[in-house]
Amino acid sequence: MKDVYIVDAVRTPFGRHGGALSGVRPDDLAAHVVRALVERTGQDSVDEASPLSASASARGWPSYSKGSVMSTPLPQADIDLEIAAIRAAREGAQAHHPDRDYAPYRSTALRHPKQPLVPLKDPEAAELTGPVFGVTDVTALDADLTRQHLGEPMGERITVHGRVFDRHGRPVRGQLVEIWQANAAGRYPHQRDDHPAPLDPNFTGVGRCLTDDDGGYAFTTIKPGAYPWRNHLNAWRPAHIHFSVFGTAFTQRLVTQMYFPGDPLFPYDPILNSVTDERARQRLVAAYDHDLSKPEWSLGYRWDIVLDGPAATWMEEGR
Ligand SMILES: [Fe+2]
Repeated sequence: MKDVYIVDAVRTPFGRHGGALSGVRPDDLAAHVVRALVERTGQDSVDEASPLSASASARGWPSYSKGSVMSTPLPQADIDLEIAAIRAAREGAQAHHPDRDYAPYRSTALRHPKQPLVPLKDPEAAELTGPVFGVTDVTALDADLTRQHLGEPMGERITVHGRVFDRHGRPVRGQLVEIWQANAAGRYPHQRDDHPAPLDPNFTGVGRCLTDDDGGYAFTTIKPGAYPWRNHLNAWRPAHIHFSVFGTAFTQRLVTQMYFPGDPLFPYDPILNSVTDERARQRLVAAYDHDLSKPEWSLGYRWDIVLDGPAATWMEEGR
């Protein structure tokens, strides 16, 4: 039997349908253990007794508790210094995804493999026990996040178009692209999101589509708002949309984030800056495309995804 491996973590939109990740906040999913897989394959479970890695402890990082990232939040200036130091150290280095253990993004201390990867005895278990997004076919309506409820959501209506390419620039057809995002006020409709901004009863913030013969995808949605998080004092995430490109099986899934041009929060965000290559960071920022804007209706953005190669879109999981 062919060996496959899990990287001890996956992300999924909201952990719908009561999946294993249903209690995990969307931006806290970067390396959540898929325990069902481990149990089903009979492998030893990942040790949770010591949540901080040895390397993190050696650096004197603060201790963590669920729902509260830091007991004594650092000011932005300290985070800025850490970002600058890591970027300087990585100058010219070849990399294809952010470090899983990236100090300025505090909770990554909890989210990188602490043990060797687990070979799965039953690869199909990943398909049977992994989180699921839905049990129905993908329809055109799934790509329009403004039409999922009886009324119109609040906010700035936008369309996001792009194409998915392989490393040779060839379009990737029939690819499941999933997105999830906060509403216009920067709030997720999620049990772990307690940001005091209004929920929008007409906006769930999840969508999906299949790429067409040109590798193209398109979503109609609302521009998400910035939101605070507890990484450090006065930490705010730039507006972003989470993207998942599924591959041909759950174990191939790649996840990343798209940003909006000109966001003043870019320099302050440890998650975006965990991408240490300047050009790679720029590739995560969509372009405003006036030709995609629709008169009296919506503003258009374009963002392409490259799965591999020198111009690859950096993903949150290793490849
Ligand atoms: Fe987010």
